[in-house]
Amino acid sequence: MPYANVGPVAVPEELSDEQVLFLTDVLPTSYWGATNANVKIGDTVVVLGCGPVGLMAQKWAAYLGAGRIIAVDYIDYRLKHAKKHNDVETLNFEDYDNVGEYIKEITNGGADVVIDCVGMDGKMSGIERIETLLKLQGGSKSALEIATQAVRKGGIVSIVGVYGARYNNFPLGDFFARNITLKMGQCPAHSYIHPILELIKAGKIDPTDIITHKLPLDKGEYAYEIFDAKKDGCIKVILKP
Ligand SMILES: NC(=O)c1ccc[n+]([C@@H]2O[C@H](COP(=O)([O-])OP(=O)(O)OC[C@H]3O[C@@H](n4cnc5c(N)ncnc54)[C@H](O)[C@@H]3O)[C@@H](O)[C@H]2O)c1
Repeated sequence: MPYANVGPVAVPEELSDEQVLFLTDVLPTSYWGATNANVKIGDTVVVLGCGPVGLMAQKWAAYLGAGRIIAVDYIDYRLKHAKKHNDVETLNFEDYDNVGEYIKEITNGGADVVIDCVGMDGKMSGIERIETLLKLQGGSKSALEIATQAVRKGGIVSIVGVYGARYNNFPLGDFFARNITLKMGQCPAHSYIHPILELIKAGKIDPTDIITHKLPLDKGEYAYEIFDAKKDGCIKVILKP
């Protein structure tokens, strides 16, 4: 077993599987997204995306002391989940011509921090869809377009949503003109497992509300279907043999 002396982590008896399961990916990624963005006490933080990573990034922003957290998505059940469990302001970007401009307005110039928890699978425009099919575009950059306007001058955009290829019309000039710091990459997840485990043990963070379905293994196909199509209020499915 490669790296068997490094990878495995002993889980304390008193914690349930559900409390620690997301230590392998969602929890470190979202934590890194918030800490890499230097979220400070009183900051206004915009979190793009209310999937598992975005929902947890909202919790971490609150943990780090953000004064105002605005969550953006276009799937209403996910926005409702964010409001109910994370007590954040929510915006459905389909309700606005330009949600980034709207955020700039309601935050008096933009948020201190924008965390992109969407990546290349975000909602695409028709043109992006065609360009992506023709391999002229690396997928959606809809979240980054929102970030260009939603972040304040001199603010930070932290990208944890995955972007895998080259991009045409990347809004570099928009970021440049407003002195934005872009931070991004693959989360060094293992470095964060032990510190986050301590926070779970201390009751400071609880990721279990993102589990919307607990199903037996033989319902795996159905689980993938609702997860992929975002049906039945699905956010995260746990398969229990
Ligand atoms: N950097 C890393 O190390 C790392 C690790 C794990 C996951 N990720 C990435 O994080 C991203 C989020 O993961 P997830 O599991 O939460 O995904 P998800 O697909 O469940 O959630 C993404 C959410 O973004 C919403 N969305 C689409 N376009 C949007 C836009 N323009 N603005 C705002 N919201 C928009 C979708 O409706 C969806 O609810 C993915 O790209 C995933 O690959 C990165």
